[in-house]
Amino acid sequence: MKKAKMYIDKNYIIDKVDNRLFGSFIEHLGRAVYTGIYEPGHPKSDEKGFRKDVIDLVKELNVSIVRYPGGNFVSGYNWEDGVGPKDKRPKKLELAWQSIEPNEFGTNEFIEWCKKVNTEPMMSLNLGTRGIDEARNFVEYCNHSGGGYYGELRKKHGYKEPHKVKIWCLGNEMDGPWQIGHKTVEEYARLAEETAKVMKLVDPDISLVACGSSGWHIPTFGEWEATVLEHTYDYVDYISLHAYYDNYEDNIENFLAKSIDMDSYIKSVIATCDYIKGKKKSKKTINISFDEWNVWFHSREADKKVEPWQIAPPLLEDVYTFEDALLVGLMLITLLKNADRVKIACLAQLVNVIAPIMTRKGGGAWRQTIFYPFMHASNFGRGKVLQPVISTDKYDTKDFKEVPFVDSIPVFNEEKNELTIFAVNRAQDKMVFECELKGFEDYSVIEHIVLENSDLKAVNTEDKPDNVKPHSNGNARNEGEKVMAELSPLSWNVIRVGKK
Ligand code: AHR
Repeated sequence: MKKAKMYIDKNYIIDKVDNRLFGSFIEHLGRAVYTGIYEPGHPKSDEKGFRKDVIDLVKELNVSIVRYPGGNFVSGYNWEDGVGPKDKRPKKLELAWQSIEPNEFGTNEFIEWCKKVNTEPMMSLNLGTRGIDEARNFVEYCNHSGGGYYGELRKKHGYKEPHKVKIWCLGNEMDGPWQIGHKTVEEYARLAEETAKVMKLVDPDISLVACGSSGWHIPTFGEWEATVLEHTYDYVDYISLHAYYDNYEDNIENFLAKSIDMDSYIKSVIATCDYIKGKKKSKKTINISFDEWNVWFHSREADKKVEPWQIAPPLLEDVYTFEDALLVGLMLITLLKNADRVKIACLAQLVNVIAPIMTRKGGGAWRQTIFYPFMHASNFGRGKVLQPVISTDKYDTKDFKEVPFVDSIPVFNEEKNELTIFAVNRAQDKMVFECELKGFEDYSVIEHIVLENSDLKAVNTEDKPDNVKPHSNGNARNEGEKVMAELSPLSWNVIRVGKK
């Protein structure tokens, strides 16, 4: 049997996890909003049209922050179209996804929905077709107590108290040629700098995310981050990263190694942030907002056949397999490992569009396979991330060298007096997993949750919603000072250890 050993010391702390690491994303895209979170007339919708079955599932995920309204959508969006009396709101051509946007759901509905699911809003701005003027008005509308036109307008729309949106994204993927209003780095950097300056004049308490690259394989990567930060360093707090992985080649070894790519990407952006920090001799540190991450490939072909100019067309409806859940688990481990610098992360997206939650119009809502690792990490992964030392056998793949068979991260929650060890076994056979714990002498195993399946392509559907789901029959146990477990082949594991 293969073996892996992990050393954990209570005093060796990477950092406290920022709760916003367990965020997600709702874009006006496909059926994320309409027939996803919002479906007036559905038997399970409330008086506002919010689907209560979806609200319950979002609460299970314990999502800490939700980015909105895009995505590519935001670069052509006029926020004014989505506020005020619904019967006066215009239907518009939505160019990014070639759909019709009815604008029945907008900023105020989103804020209300956030309250219902106990999450924080993260607002993105249109720096594609618009700029400084729109941004300042929008922040005033959302956050100002009144006296000026836009704060008063919000009140007129029925929202006396400011929404107090703290986190704002300065555009979306502005480096990407597909983006509406795509910019050269100089164009974007200057616009972001001036927009940020003006937004902070309206509300100095906000935090800003500058657009990094739309992916780290795009040719302008690196130079883009450096130039953007050269201009915006004093005004922004975070730089964004986006990454989506696929398994087109159906190669499980290579697919599960892709979290290593994510880790290298994070490290490269940290290096760039710190290069500019050094160059500027700044005392401020720019952190990371990994505000789009997931597996995305299953729906790409089908999407080419979707008729344009429909309201809420079925776009990006990836049906996730069991193996996708393993990579999502590995990506969560990667985010936790970098918790000292990754402060915000958004699983893209939340409902129907490359999402952990699926719905049918007029029908049910169910959990996709990727729901589970996110739910576990979000519920058990809050606290201090401990620095593990892991020794395990490694393997090579087409794109990666020395891939560890086991990837794992421990998180200690002081309030609950609980240590949680997240681990993925990338091997196709069982793994003996030995954890040597220091500082946890009077702790013992409470539960060992396992997500495993003999069929890598197994999925959940409305008819078979529990085809892939975790069980708590893992065999982790205490042996003296150690926690020992046999990890099933290709499995996601959550080992919870509590004070006796
Ligand atoms: O999440 C889907 C899309 O992926 C977003 O709209 C865009 O920002 C990214 O390219």
